[in-house]
Amino acid sequence: EKGGYEYFMLKEIYEQPKAIKETLSPRVDKENHIVLDDIKLTKEDLEKINKVMIVACGTAYHAGLVGRYAIEKFAKIPVETDVASEFRYRDPFVDENTLFIAISQSGETADTLAALREAKAKGARVMAVTNVVGSRISREADDVFYTWAGPEIAVASTKAYTTQLIAMYLIALNMGIKKGTISKEKYNTVLNELKALPQKAEKLLENKQLIQELADKQFNNQNVFYIGRGIDDHVGREGSLKLKEISYIHSEAIAAGELKHGTIALIEEGTLVVALATQDHLYDKMLSNIQEVRARGAYVIAVAKEGNEEAEKAADVVIYIPDTIDELTPVLSVIPLQVFAYYVAVARGTDVDKPKNLAKSVTVE
Ligand code: F6R
Repeated sequence: EKGGYEYFMLKEIYEQPKAIKETLSPRVDKENHIVLDDIKLTKEDLEKINKVMIVACGTAYHAGLVGRYAIEKFAKIPVETDVASEFRYRDPFVDENTLFIAISQSGETADTLAALREAKAKGARVMAVTNVVGSRISREADDVFYTWAGPEIAVASTKAYTTQLIAMYLIALNMGIKKGTISKEKYNTVLNELKALPQKAEKLLENKQLIQELADKQFNNQNVFYIGRGIDDHVGREGSLKLKEISYIHSEAIAAGELKHGTIALIEEGTLVVALATQDHLYDKMLSNIQEVRARGAYVIAVAKEGNEEAEKAADVVIYIPDTIDELTPVLSVIPLQVFAYYVAVARGTDVDKPKNLAKSVTVE
């Protein structure tokens, strides 16, 4: 059932091109219209919405951070994000003009479900992005977007995350075109780039050797830091979570600009830093951050878009992802981070699919 893979996690990493395609294709017709069957939100409903709240846990929360960026950028609605376990306890401003989006692979996470109920009770329109048809969260939401990732067995989430990203892009684009906040031209560009992602992910996955070699050398670190700016920071958080949950190495992700406000104190000779540098408008700033940590002895693995070779001068090693528009890089840049975490865990001999103390679905608060 693992299809020749040693662990489900690797199998699921390799299923991503297919999962992305299956989540995307049924929603986009030949004329580039987005068809979201289980989302009944009309243009009139949207006009009322003055705020979006995205709430989730763990990896799904990280997808929500990218979702925030996409909705603010394409649909021009202010978006707040929160982890579900915090949401209810800060008496959040939610009312009938709020669109609440819960993201949950399992659709059963207790905190996310409780947050959804709270938002609903306050009158919000409630949308769910989930991978499980008929799950509790899907049943209680007004609108549902199903990610067609297929069953995810490994505790560490991979294909669920990338398909959640696709969901958030489609939701954001759909809102943007309905509201007229995105030009037709930009809309088409983003959709065409989305459609090219499965093939690009496929290509990226053909070449895991460099990452495997890096993992074989870097599996003994005590601490790993992930840095990035903008959506690269969000992807860094996901990469860091993947590494810690399956390899048990302490790691943290930080917005690169925040380094000098404290965390840089922990960078010393040999500290591994994974630097995401995929955003064109932030590229030079990231290169400076890379130099900053290297000046303190860090070993830097950078992730950059093909063609951005200046990163080679700044970092020790560069992992390239196929070129795409900046808004969509998370779908690709997370893949090498998943593969890296996987091989570090394998090198450390952990039970990759069933890490200690973790459950696939957290049904207690
Ligand atoms: C990390 C991971 C967890 C889940 C989180 C939410 O790899 O799997 O962080 O993402 O427990 O689970 P769902 O999406 O089922 O609500």
